[in-house]
Order: sequence, then structure tokens, then C-alpha cells
Amino acid sequence: MTDMTTFSTSASEPVPSGAIPAVKATQVHKAFGSLHVLKGVDLTVMPGTVTVILGPSGSGKSTFLRLINQLETLTGGEIEVDGELIGYKRTGRTDADGREIWQTLDDKAIAAQRSKLGMVFQRFNLFPHMTAIENVMEAPVHVKHMNKAEARELAVAELQRVGLGERLDYYPSELSGGQQQRVAIARALAMKPEIMLFDEPTSALDPELVGEVLNVMLSLAKEGMTMIVVTHEIGFAREVADQVVFMDGGVVVEHGGPDIIDHPSEPRFKDFLQHVL
Ligand SMILES: Nc1ncnc2c1ncn2[C@@H]1O[C@H](COP(=O)(O)OP(=O)(O)OP(=O)(O)O)[C@@H](O)[C@H]1O
Ligand SMILES: [Mg+2]
Repeated sequence: MTDMTTFSTSASEPVPSGAIPAVKATQVHKAFGSLHVLKGVDLTVMPGTVTVILGPSGSGKSTFLRLINQLETLTGGEIEVDGELIGYKRTGRTDADGREIWQTLDDKAIAAQRSKLGMVFQRFNLFPHMTAIENVMEAPVHVKHMNKAEARELAVAELQRVGLGERLDYYPSELSGGQQQRVAIARALAMKPEIMLFDEPTSALDPELVGEVLNVMLSLAKEGMTMIVVTHEIGFAREVADQVVFMDGGVVVEHGGPDIIDHPSEPRFKDFLQHVL
């Protein structure tokens, strides 16, 4: 394990030492055939903190988020969410070569682990034939089997939380990109995740709509939500992040508090910042 430090800013409560990490990735590898995308990523995210992941296109940022959410399977290493190994169960036994034997978890156990995570993508992926409130109610009703009245109440609250209390019955096509993305955030929040993963949530938006989405994310951070955010919004990283991680070539090249944005030490990170700033 490389040295892992967590950071706390005034935006969040100090993290008690000895707390269980919300996410702990250890030597994570991922290959697609012969393409080795992640080459030993270590990352620790403490509860109630915001981690911003920066990095050039193709560096494996989305792949890493998808691994945390079990949309992809690991090639090597391990990820714990909330202190629990994801995707597998440790058996405590070793094989003839002395390697620890892991058992694959069944679908139900994987679904339970995945329910701790909410994910927001660059493309909002709302159901076009459903209104905002129907989009938000969908998973609570069909995945959690919540009754419709209760789900409706929950959906209203989550849409109000993202500032869309006045747009409940609008269809996605009647909403701006920023509003659609806020519906997507409300939809993820309605499943009551412990951790929110954001993959370039503002990259598909017109510049004038970026701020309203970042503001919703800022207020979530202030409420103490644990967040991992892949973004090119350096201002957001500087203001909101407790931890900034720069990935390149499938590894974490530099990580630290938000101050590393203004004082990078690795040449590759300096180079990257010069291009995005
Ligand atoms: N399912 C897949 N099959 C094959 N290759 C993949 C797959 N998913 C990602 N890759 C490859 O893995 C590499 C990393 O992709 P990834 O999407 O994780 O990068 P990224 O850092 O998110 O980039 P961007 O900033 O452009 O979103 C790329 O070369 C990509 O083509
Ligand atoms: Mg990506």
C-alpha cells in the first residue's frame, strides 16, 4: 500500500480517526483484452468527504468509477465499500499457490452492495416518456417496491432538494440540460445512496447551465454526502474537494488537498493544469 492521506476542509465535519473508509481501492487493475487501462490505483475516500478525480481523456477515470459501482469487474486488486469487499467474499482459505480464495457474490448480494452507491453520468439517461417525478419514482417503486404514494412523496422531496419543485410534471424534452441533469441527481438520491459517484456531470451542458448543477452538488457536499466526482471543473475542485486526485496512464500520479491544484509537484499534473486552466 502506498501512503494514503485524507483531507478535511471546513466544508465537512472532521473525519474521526479510525473511521471506516467509504471507499478503499487497493492496487486496482483493469484490462480490456490486451488494453491495460488501470495499473494499480490506490484511493481512500473517507465518509462525508468529496474527492475530485482529474485526468486526461483515456486515463481510466470512468473505468475506475464503473469498477466501484460494479458495472465492470476487476482484473486485479480489491475495492472495499463501507469496509466490505465488493463482488467477492473472502473465504480465509488459500489455494496451492498460497493465494487467497475468493468466492463470487451472488446477484442479490451484489445488488445490495450497489444500492449503497448512486451514479450520475455525463448523459442524463432519463426515460423520455416519463415526467420528472415519474423518472425519480421509477426505481423506488420497481426496485425497492415502495408503494406509489410513498414514492411520490419521496420524489417530490428529492426534486425540491435539487430546486425542481416547480417542474414535477415536465417531460425531459421540456427541461433544459441543466434541469435534466438535476432530475438525474434527484433520481439517484431517491435510492438513498451512501456515496454518490459523478462522471463528468456537467460536460454535456451548455456553459450557462453548468453552474446550477455544480450548485446542487455543492449543497450535497455541505449536507455531508460522500462524493467522488470526475470533472474538468477546476473551480469546483478547488472550492469543494477535500481530496484531489490526478490520474494519468492508469495510475494516480498525484493526490492531496485542493491546494495541489495551485501547487502541483508532478510535471504531468502541471502540464494537465496548464491545458485546462
Ligand atoms: N468496455 C470497454 N472495452 C474496451 N475498452 C474500453 C472499455 N471501456 C473503456 N475502454 C478503454 O479504456 C480506456 C480508458 O477509458 P475511460 O473511459 O475509463 O477513460 P476516461 O479517463 O474516463 O476518459 P474521458 O475523459 O475521455 O472520459 C480508453 O482507452 C477506452 O477506450
Ligand atoms: Mg470518462
